Amino acid sequence: MYSMATISATPPKNISGDMTVRHADPGDARGIAEVHVCSWRTSYRGIVPDARLDALDVESRVLFWKTTLMRTPNCCFVSVNDNGVITGFVSAGPAQNDELGTDGEIYAIYLVESAKKQGIGRRLLYEAVLCLRKAGFRSLSLWLLRENPARGFYERFGGRIMGEKSYVTGGFTLPAIGCKWDDIEALSRALA
Ligand SMILES: CC(C)(COP(=O)(O)OP(=O)(O)OC[C@H]1O[C@@H](n2cnc3c(N)ncnc32)[C@H](O)[C@@H]1OP(=O)(O)O)[C@@H](O)C(=O)NCCC(=O)NCCS
Repeated sequence: MYSMATISATPPKNISGDMTVRHADPGDARGIAEVHVCSWRTSYRGIVPDARLDALDVESRVLFWKTTLMRTPNCCFVSVNDNGVITGFVSAGPAQNDELGTDGEIYAIYLVESAKKQGIGRRLLYEAVLCLRKAGFRSLSLWLLRENPARGFYERFGGRIMGEKSYVTGGFTLPAIGCKWDDIEALSRALA
């Protein structure tokens, strides 16, 4: 079950003077949904069809995130600026299938434009990996759109591109690639 004690056990981590990373809770659902939609629209323009990006809707994602944030383990973290506004998030947990042969998976990691390139993505990924390790996971994978330049971010920390599949979003089918780490401890050392 969802436990407040578990959530508050992670102390806030300062990245730069005005940015903090902390464990997410259900009250963060709206802020996460807003970042999710905003980052898709800016990061995926030219990769995902405009019609899909324009149709994205924050409200429909709030309930999804509330439910997700009540699951165990809750390996979801947010970056927050000095005004308390969520600027990024990561969500991780058990692999959703066996396709890449790992037990853990990063489901999503997104930042708004103004938060990129300051080490926040690295810190968010580190916290998610640490959380998964504590929960007993030993390997990690994720899927990303084939044309997504974020591939370089994962490769920077030793991720290996392994597989391909189709990703369906809002009626559009797009090519996706898999990325994996066989040893989650080695990944956490690379991120530390
Ligand atoms: C991918 C993303 C999370 C990276 O976060 P970030 O905060 O900008 O990255 P960081 O500043 O922590 O970068 C850490 C390192 O990775 C490198 N890096 C980051 N993005 C990179 C990229 N696209 N290509 C190559 N290297 C990259 C940085 O140069 C840095 O390297 P260094 O340690 O040698 O200096 C962020 O750019 C983002 O939200 N992108 C849009 C959403 C997205 O595509 N998410 C992934 C979905 S699968």
